[in-house]
Amino acid sequence: MSINRRRFLTQAGLSAITATTAGSRLLDGGNAPAAAGNDRDPLGTDGPLDLETLADPAARLAPVPFHGPWQAGILTRPQPAACFASFDVFAGNRAELVDLLRSLTGVARFLTGGGTPENLGPTAPPSDSGTLGPIVPADGLTVTVSVGSTLFDGRYGLASRKPRHLKTMPSFPNDNLDPAQTGGDLLLQICAGSADTAIHALREIARQTSGVMQIRWRLDGFVAPARPSGVPRNHLAFKDGIANPNVNDPVVGNHLLWVTNGIGEPDWAVGGSYHVCRIIKMFIEFWDRVSLTEQQQMIGRYRDSGAPLDGQLESDIPDFRADPHGAVIPLNAHIRLANPRTSETDPSRIFRRGYNYDRGVDLNGNLDMGLIFNAFQQNLKRQFEATQRRLIGEPMVDYVSPVGGGYFFALPGVQTTQDWYARGLLED
Ligand code: HEM
Repeated sequence: MSINRRRFLTQAGLSAITATTAGSRLLDGGNAPAAAGNDRDPLGTDGPLDLETLADPAARLAPVPFHGPWQAGILTRPQPAACFASFDVFAGNRAELVDLLRSLTGVARFLTGGGTPENLGPTAPPSDSGTLGPIVPADGLTVTVSVGSTLFDGRYGLASRKPRHLKTMPSFPNDNLDPAQTGGDLLLQICAGSADTAIHALREIARQTSGVMQIRWRLDGFVAPARPSGVPRNHLAFKDGIANPNVNDPVVGNHLLWVTNGIGEPDWAVGGSYHVCRIIKMFIEFWDRVSLTEQQQMIGRYRDSGAPLDGQLESDIPDFRADPHGAVIPLNAHIRLANPRTSETDPSRIFRRGYNYDRGVDLNGNLDMGLIFNAFQQNLKRQFEATQRRLIGEPMVDYVSPVGGGYFFALPGVQTTQDWYARGLLED
């Protein structure tokens, strides 16, 4: 107890010593029994119930339709919270794998729509963990299921149905891939309006599929609020997600995002998309020692506004042709290498839907935070790999390093209430 507090208590007690029981309780440090009624020792009295929380429980996002030609969670505007979980599948044979995908569909369909979980009575374990309360809110939940190349090995007789470009993610220069957080048979990208909704979904899915699939690695992410407006920022403080192809235009979507007929992919894969998820650690401590000018030249945009270095607004399009020698936007700036904006490189554009992550402290005592680089594309080789190759050796590589993730293929959409994830792949 501090001296001041002791003096206060002593004085308070002295002034009341002969008058009240409460006074004597204060003097003896509160050890005397509490008097009945309102004469409670203020130190032992509860404060008012603090019902005002910062997170507004009513601010739940509207449900995102589960059924459609492609899965939700790709075109869906990034929800604030995400959980990326990669699973190894232990189904004993193809029939068990079918059961697994059917169960997964059932859970995801229920959770994304929201509702009251089945009441199994007081003697059984509850059908739902209950962490979202007795009625599960939809809260903008999406569960996007992608398959890894290992699912197409000998176990389930699927080798001949593998999407053409799907393979194990190679290690690029500057990568430092940790096998414990790389690869997996199935990747679930679970996104929602709040972290508890995403975590609840992961927990229900893991429980209801336990024994047949097992989490291999998992990483939670978030999209920050706009600071102060526009596109949210990543941990390097730059607005991230400004420039993306207009994939809602069907012509663009059918050339850059979705697998379509007639491009040499298996029929079942139409409506799917190659999904690249890379856990990219940032060396924040080093980044924070770099001058603002150098930071901006590495990215090619102004940190505060997000505008390209030759523009005023984040929505301005950089004009590289007017700056052929890189006098304004250096030739090796991230945005210039990632998207040179030429007719030759336009077909390599990717659709990014990234999340920030923050998972405490690494083994060296540095902040363990970075970017869950998350991109969808029609053709892994023509798009992600071409873009990644252009970025090899860019100045930013001194401040970031990919440590995990993998190549996956986002399954086509679940079209009806009778349909299920991967039906086209697994049914003969
Ligand atoms: C930690 C690693 C990375 C960070 C911090 C980062 C950061 C950024 C930032 C700040 C922008 C500019 C704003 C925007 O248009 O969104 C950007 C754009 C972009 N980044 Fe990255 N990025 C990273 C990794 C990657 C990787 C691995 C790729 C692909 C292989 C990539 C591809 C792109 C593309 C295509 C653009 C849009 C360029 C344009 O169209 O103008 N980025 N990135």
